[in-house]
Amino acid sequence: MASDQPASRTGGPAAHEELARGVDATAGQQRPDEAAGRRRTAVVTGASSGIGEATARALAAQGFDVVLGARRADRIDTIAAEIGGRAHRLDITDQDSVEAFAAAAGPVDVLVNNAGGAKGLAPVAEADLDDWRWMWETNVLGTLRVTKALLPGLIDSGDGLVITVTSVAALSSYDGGAGYTSAKHAQALLHRTMRGELLGKPVRFTEICPGMVETEFSLVRFKGDAERADNVYAGVTPLVAADIADIVAFTATRPSHVDLDQIVVRPRDQAHDGRVNRRI
Ligand SMILES: NC(=O)c1ccc[n+]([C@@H]2O[C@H](COP(=O)([O-])OP(=O)(O)OC[C@H]3O[C@@H](n4cnc5c(N)ncnc54)[C@H](OP(=O)(O)O)[C@@H]3O)[C@@H](O)[C@H]2O)c1
Repeated sequence: MASDQPASRTGGPAAHEELARGVDATAGQQRPDEAAGRRRTAVVTGASSGIGEATARALAAQGFDVVLGARRADRIDTIAAEIGGRAHRLDITDQDSVEAFAAAAGPVDVLVNNAGGAKGLAPVAEADLDDWRWMWETNVLGTLRVTKALLPGLIDSGDGLVITVTSVAALSSYDGGAGYTSAKHAQALLHRTMRGELLGKPVRFTEICPGMVETEFSLVRFKGDAERADNVYAGVTPLVAADIADIVAFTATRPSHVDLDQIVVRPRDQAHDGRVNRRI
């Protein structure tokens, strides 16, 4: 099969035998960016809070040139100044904004599709169409817009990586959650489909499916009702944003033949069926 993989990274039967013996045949070989003597650039969408902010910090600590995008420009400006990154206002529901952001970002090696969230917890019979529209526009079409804009550059980098933060909501359903779970399923399928469509191109795809992470997520879901948001985490030890950022940083620093395909991570207090252990 034709491959755009740089020759130095393709391996072959001998390399695979070495890998099977626990020897990384690609260790010590240079990535295209290393050969060119440049830092790798990582775009993080939704970098103004929660998982995105922690991810921007973790990737900067790994030496990446980090480009932060979100609507709250004041927040990303402050974070970028602290980590030596670059901030550009981004609304992933707006095509012009996405195009301007992509042009400002320049060549990109890693894209973290993180921007997203939930609105409301109404049963389907009482669904708020505006909430559903927000969730689909942001999680699904927003991920599509940003990925489409950056994919050619990610492939041109010779070693691109797309990490999409979906959710355990992309793996199951729960009462009151259909707007969010359907959007996360759709976002996940868009991401997983590219893994096959781009097979043979030098780009990797990693889906991270977190369970409960304490961020501004519930505050957004409950439209600023802090008491209701706090109750989500009452008596539970949830994940924190830095836990997911660690996983992103680990993923982004694997050798280019390694594709961490799908990572599911929950707090110890949350079972696979969504039940939580509350100590109250
Ligand atoms: N927290 C959890 O329990 C959990 C679990 C599984 C998956 N997730 C997923 O993790 C991702 C990050 O969420 P989080 O928990 O870190 O929540 P968060 O603190 O509310 O962060 C959401 C981020 O998305 C950005 N965003 C929202 N709409 C946007 C838009 N139109 N354009 C650009 N950026 C936008 C927000 O920035 P601005 O408002 O400044 O634009 C913010 O930076 C989301 O995709 C969420 O669905 C969260």
